[in-house]
Amino acid sequence: MNRGSGTGPIVLSYIQTRPILEAKQKGLSTIEVSPDLGLTTVGVAITPEGVIFSGGEQLGWQSIEKISKSTVNCFLVEDGSVRPIQVFSETTNRMCSLMPTEKAPSMLIAGFVMHRIKDIDPYADTLRKIATIAPVVGRVLDTATGLGYTAIEAARTADEVVTIELDPGAQEVAWLNPWSRELFDNSKIVQVMGDAFEVVQNFDDQSFARIIHDPPTFSLAGELYSGEFYRQLFRMLKRGGRLFHYIGDPKSKASGGVTRGVLRRLQEAGFARVVRRPEAFGVVGYK
Ligand SMILES: C[S@@+](CC[C@H](N)C(=O)[O-])C[C@H]1O[C@@H](n2cnc3c(N)ncnc32)[C@H](O)[C@@H]1O
Repeated sequence: MNRGSGTGPIVLSYIQTRPILEAKQKGLSTIEVSPDLGLTTVGVAITPEGVIFSGGEQLGWQSIEKISKSTVNCFLVEDGSVRPIQVFSETTNRMCSLMPTEKAPSMLIAGFVMHRIKDIDPYADTLRKIATIAPVVGRVLDTATGLGYTAIEAARTADEVVTIELDPGAQEVAWLNPWSRELFDNSKIVQVMGDAFEVVQNFDDQSFARIIHDPPTFSLAGELYSGEFYRQLFRMLKRGGRLFHYIGDPKSKASGGVTRGVLRRLQEAGFARVVRRPEAFGVVGYK
């Protein structure tokens, strides 16, 4: 795999390539470009054929135009050509893709955005989720890996983070996302592939101090909102432990209805105290 910044493959979206086109129009010969969706920048040379990254990687104007036209895909630069980071998953029959934002990208699964992107970016969204169960200490369970942002942030202070992902397509998208690198590099993070509904049955009682439950929307993953699943979460949580459960915009009609059902089922599962955390679009259950 070609490397733009020395740490990973070059991944670009329209946010990086549109300024390159502007620089060309202005007749500039160099420009600073991020080769990793905004994490770092490198100098690139502008030539009549396209651009040349500091690592020698070349990209033609046709490819740069192609990236600039898409606001929903991020692109991997491979051997001078580009391909959108998207994977059709045979396991779930769903398309997973990396979607650019001004900051950290999100993931689209079957057309649903997996993070908040309105008035907030996916990473700020992650920090709000994590803050609801601070301090994040001991052993942590993250039930739905996604791009790994919650697992990565939890691992900053936890002893260990066990994170579960159903979809190999989602994992492949995370693998290609520069913002997800720590998910694969951090030895405190243990990735488990499988259905969280089944995988959790293997964990011991009271084996986690914190649980982050950030499932897809109710219509994509109903069983992860079931009383049976919540009883498993309660069983695995240590006494004094905390669960964060993302639900969705409490002001929207759909999520408001789902929230009422979630609160009731969490209480029935044993969580004596469940507190709404509207700033994080979720609730916290205390054991
Ligand atoms: C909202 S995203 C999680 C976002 C993640 N917390 C992050 O920080 O990027 C939900 C993820 O759960 C995965 N998923 C869906 N059903 C699942 C299941 N039954 N078990 C485990 N993961 C599941 C989806 O493939 C998707 O990657």
